[in-house]
Amino acid sequence: MNSLLRARQLDKAHIQQLLGRAQYFADHSSDLLRTYTLATLFFEPSTRTNLSFQMAATRLGIRVLPFSIEHSSLLKGESLQDTLQTLDALGVDAAVIRHSENWPESGVADQTEMALINAGSGVFEHPTQALLDALTIQQQFSTFSNLVITIVGDVLHSRVARSNIHILKVLGAKMQFAGPEEYMSSELEKLAPWVDFDQGIRESDVVMMLRIQHERHANPALICKEDYHRRYGMTAERMAAMQNHAVLLHPGPVNREVEVASEVLDHSRCLVRRQVANGVLVRMAVLEWCLQGGLT
Ligand code: CP
Repeated sequence: MNSLLRARQLDKAHIQQLLGRAQYFADHSSDLLRTYTLATLFFEPSTRTNLSFQMAATRLGIRVLPFSIEHSSLLKGESLQDTLQTLDALGVDAAVIRHSENWPESGVADQTEMALINAGSGVFEHPTQALLDALTIQQQFSTFSNLVITIVGDVLHSRVARSNIHILKVLGAKMQFAGPEEYMSSELEKLAPWVDFDQGIRESDVVMMLRIQHERHANPALICKEDYHRRYGMTAERMAAMQNHAVLLHPGPVNREVEVASEVLDHSRCLVRRQVANGVLVRMAVLEWCLQGGLT
């Protein structure tokens, strides 16, 4: 069994193999993994990640056990570690975990035989989101060399940005950040420059807008949505200022009329829905690798 805990554990060859396998699954399904079982543990809300893991498992023949935090003994005080050891003892093969804390660094993966897959850990990592973003960009441009990719917005609270900066840099893209100064991260600034938003839009091949993550803000009421949209939102005018070939990504869920204008979501170069579809393919590839290996 393999675990996918952080984007940083993946080198270029491994990322390329996972993307290749994900693309293969665009035209193929297989029930070869029908002897395996999967549990999904979502301590934070999710639509895309949770359902796409379930869809991916279904397409591979993996049985998904019904498990909800609200009806589990976690509510009686059982720890994550003890819960995972219980699933292990039951014979579950893999667990997908989303948590507000940086659980991969807690050592729980060393205490279980199961494959563990990080479906979002606090502000730290969301590796399968970065892989599906990379697949979406690869489908569009075939290469990452010389691509300029600007990640815009609430970088400070973004696990998506932290996983993407690793994956996309390893693949050869030129990464940069833009958005409000208060969302700048000194840690991430060491990895990519912070540029003016409108300049970034004009010179980018890919603009990745981030959701304002109100749930991680000490004082969410301080944000004026109209002001944010005017200064940092992707409007139809800003979309028109992008290069003719440039595309727009957003991991979702989108705050309409805040990060992105509703009309822009229907633009032919807005790939948000393709990202969601690619989430199933990437998670099929990840589940296969975690349960059966097979990649070098
Ligand atoms: N992008 C993403 O993780 O979406 P969900 O929170 O809906 O899973």
